[in-house]
Amino acid sequence: MLTATSALFVGWTDGLEWLEYPWQLDGFFVVGGALAAVPLFLMLPHRKVKHLYVSALYIIGALTWFPILFTVANWPDLHFGVEHALVNWWFAHNVLGLWFTPMALAAAYYLIPKIVGRPIYSYGLSLLGFWSLALFYSQVGVHHLIGGPVPTWVVTLSIVTSVSMIIPVIAVAVNHHLTVLGRFRALRHSPVLRFIVAGAMMYTLASLQGSAHSLRGLNTLTHFTHYTIAHAHLGAYGFASLVFFGAAYFLLPRVTGREWPSRGLVDVHFGLVMVGFLVYFVTLSIGGLLQGSAMLDADTPFMESVRVAAPWLWGRSLGGTLMTLGHFVFAGHTLALIFKKPTAAETA
Ligand code: HEM
Ligand code: HEM
Repeated sequence: MLTATSALFVGWTDGLEWLEYPWQLDGFFVVGGALAAVPLFLMLPHRKVKHLYVSALYIIGALTWFPILFTVANWPDLHFGVEHALVNWWFAHNVLGLWFTPMALAAAYYLIPKIVGRPIYSYGLSLLGFWSLALFYSQVGVHHLIGGPVPTWVVTLSIVTSVSMIIPVIAVAVNHHLTVLGRFRALRHSPVLRFIVAGAMMYTLASLQGSAHSLRGLNTLTHFTHYTIAHAHLGAYGFASLVFFGAAYFLLPRVTGREWPSRGLVDVHFGLVMVGFLVYFVTLSIGGLLQGSAMLDADTPFMESVRVAAPWLWGRSLGGTLMTLGHFVFAGHTLALIFKKPTAAETA
């Protein structure tokens, strides 16, 4: 990653959004990824239980799908022209849908029952969520090219699957909600649960929002605007990053054998990123909708669409600063955990 990122700084790139790293260096990612995936697949036939919990299914899915996507999309001299654009966005949304999402859902499905101390509400529902995600999410990518010079039927197919995503999303939302139902007080005592539940709720919101702006009518207004950036972060930040923060708070003490030095700092981190993200999301969404309306109005000069959106970008700066401060708190706290002297109880 260091070499490939340095390559970008000196202008060596494949020049495609989400596929920027030079293909000559991609092989390292494939080998590195395989070193994570192969041990899991070798372990599976030797497992002691027959049944696989849904978190395992999501991780197996992600580790199977991602290498295929990555290799197909990065293969040099294989894709050209319009087909290249289609593969580009097939890859890009699958990074979100078949990599980020299953990894974060695996963590949420594991940690929610663990912390509230009861089994997941419905195993059947969790399987419906997993298999319908596999079926629909793999086909949604072309909704990034709505209005673009690509065959209409491919776009329509991506819209149908984008709206069908309501099935796995509602299945996950109901299952998570009913697992926590009656135990919401645990949110007060468990910072891990707070991050995970906030993240899981934002998964539902980001996905329902995504299904809505996959429709041509709404996408005409929101495409090319800050509204899309707000949505991008509702998913990638509000959902995936918050769940991963929660998972880090759960895992690090178990890996290091030490407790987090300060409960207060975890609360400060949560407060900063939640308030920061709220400001970021709301202001960019409003600014984006105003920008889109101005761009659609043939009587309005283009510069007007820039002017109406500009004040809302102060909200992005403020929100982004609060989120960044939250990350510094988290990073400092993690260093303090790693380097702190273990107490007698922790060494015992
Ligand atoms: C049912 C689920 C979802 C649907 C149907 C959906 C739909 C969409 C659509 C149509 C766009 C393109 C908007 C445009 O360019 O006009 C988009 C952009 C995006 N979405 Fe979603 N979304 C969903 C869930 C998510 C989730 C869970 C994440 C994050 C984990 C996410 C992250 C993003 C990002 C990062 C972009 C911007 C990509 C870019 O332009 O580089 N989405 N989404
Ligand atoms: C302090 C936290 C963050 C801030 C302030 C921030 C801010 C931004 C800004 C200003 C952009 C450019 C928007 C534009 O082109 O107009 C952007 C793009 C993007 N960010 Fe973030 N970001 C943060 C964290 C993250 C994280 C953690 C992720 C992924 C997990 C992420 C994923 C993305 C993606 C996918 C895009 C491209 C979206 C698109 O082009 O549609 N961001 N971010």
